[in-house]
Amino acid sequence: MKPTFYVTTPIYYVNDKPHIGHAYSTLLADCLSRWHGAQGEETFFSVGTDEHGAKIAEAAAKAGKKPEVFVDEVSAEFQTAWKALNIEASDFIRTTEERHKTVVVSFMNKLKADGHVYEGEYEGMYCVGCERFYTERELNEKGECPDHKRKPKLIKEKNWFFKLQPFVSEIIRDIESGKMEMYPEKRKNEVLSVLRGGIEDFSVSRQNVAWGIPLPFDTKQNIYVWVEALQNYISVLGYNADEAHQGANFKKFWPANVQVLGKDISKFHCIFWPALLKAAGLRVSKRFLITGFFTVDGQKMSKTLGNVIDPNDLVAKFGADGARYLILAQFAVGEDGDIKAEKFVEKYNADLANNIGNLVSRVATMATKYCAGVVAATKFRKNIGEYKKSFAKAMEQGQVYDAIEAVIQCAASVNKAIEVYKPWEKAKDEAHSSELKKMVSTWVGEVAEIGTMLAPFTPEAAAKITQAFADPNHIHNPGILFPKIK
Ligand code: MSP
Repeated sequence: MKPTFYVTTPIYYVNDKPHIGHAYSTLLADCLSRWHGAQGEETFFSVGTDEHGAKIAEAAAKAGKKPEVFVDEVSAEFQTAWKALNIEASDFIRTTEERHKTVVVSFMNKLKADGHVYEGEYEGMYCVGCERFYTERELNEKGECPDHKRKPKLIKEKNWFFKLQPFVSEIIRDIESGKMEMYPEKRKNEVLSVLRGGIEDFSVSRQNVAWGIPLPFDTKQNIYVWVEALQNYISVLGYNADEAHQGANFKKFWPANVQVLGKDISKFHCIFWPALLKAAGLRVSKRFLITGFFTVDGQKMSKTLGNVIDPNDLVAKFGADGARYLILAQFAVGEDGDIKAEKFVEKYNADLANNIGNLVSRVATMATKYCAGVVAATKFRKNIGEYKKSFAKAMEQGQVYDAIEAVIQCAASVNKAIEVYKPWEKAKDEAHSSELKKMVSTWVGEVAEIGTMLAPFTPEAAAKITQAFADPNHIHNPGILFPKIK
């Protein structure tokens, strides 16, 4: 049986259309899925949209639409954007789908039957933007939500609560022992300090939120949007609380190998989610890859500021490959970073058009001109082997940015070797002919290797390279891979 690899992205709120922050986590997961697939693993890659709760209901009302209609429209925008970016997901789950609701209802019933929930009164500060309660110490000095810079609403209501306490020390142990891996390290420490600082039980239902899935054992309440949204990771696999009817994909792919999520939602994914899974008798995901936040020109992306970068605009200008590359090649995974949109053209031209594009074109030209398209198998030079190794290591760890660096440096090093050797001069003298052919053969092999490494990031260009360089008896020019952009 093939080893399996299951990677997830957060499911995005449909209050607004996708921006590059969403595109980033989706692309990260897409690259990991493509790479693991290329290593012979059977992969499942899930994406989706988070469509219930007060935040979405408010956005729909503001747009003057019924929530059902509104969520269909915005979810479609996510699907269109992912298609434009060449995201190869196995499935797209929407929390308004029946298949999701069925799983959530059975999961909640199981929690109730096994005594993991209780009824209680809750009074707390709720931020609709985050769809979560905040404790006093989590708010900023002005008493505002640190993300939305707004004072949360004081809410007092009857809720059902999840008994988190029995799982706290087990989760701490799992994190400390590496059974539950978290990257980067600083996020792991943050989560550990929340766990050790004393964390309260959380509510699994809401009393006055009309747009949601009813709690099956108390239908006056709806299930708290986060609690049902987290379950998308298993509903997409067809989980069934009844083992006799367990979904084939759930049996095959759970637990997830990598869950990609943003630093703002680590409490939900690395504390609440593992606890819910444990309560339901399920295994916890193996690795949590936690991304940072993009700002644009020093500011948080916002409609009011007009600085939201739409991935569709990047695709229109740079093509799917170019857009993918520019979004992924900004910062190391896990780091926050400020995006300077005016640098996109420069980076695209430098890395893709000039470095990679030029290399492929010049090596293909030499192969046809000096070798009539026929090359012999040769070994790579040692430094290429080193790039390959660091590339594979980075991909294995989900360090997509480091992997990109390795490919770019690898291409630059082949370009440099060509400059140093000066094949155009050697070609003038017949005496160098066999050595020249050998050199070109080496470069052909190296470019083919670069094509393979590029496959997760720029799949269209990579496929063209592979096609043009696959047959040693017919190496040909794949054409312009990355046209220069002004
Ligand atoms: N719906 C929840 C997730 C539920 S998962 C069970 C949610 N949605 S979100 O649309 O607000 O954010 C989804 C992801 O996008 C988060 O991982 C978040 O960190 C990421 N980003 C949102 N804005 C971002 C930037 N400006 N930069 C980078 N990523 C950011 O939270």
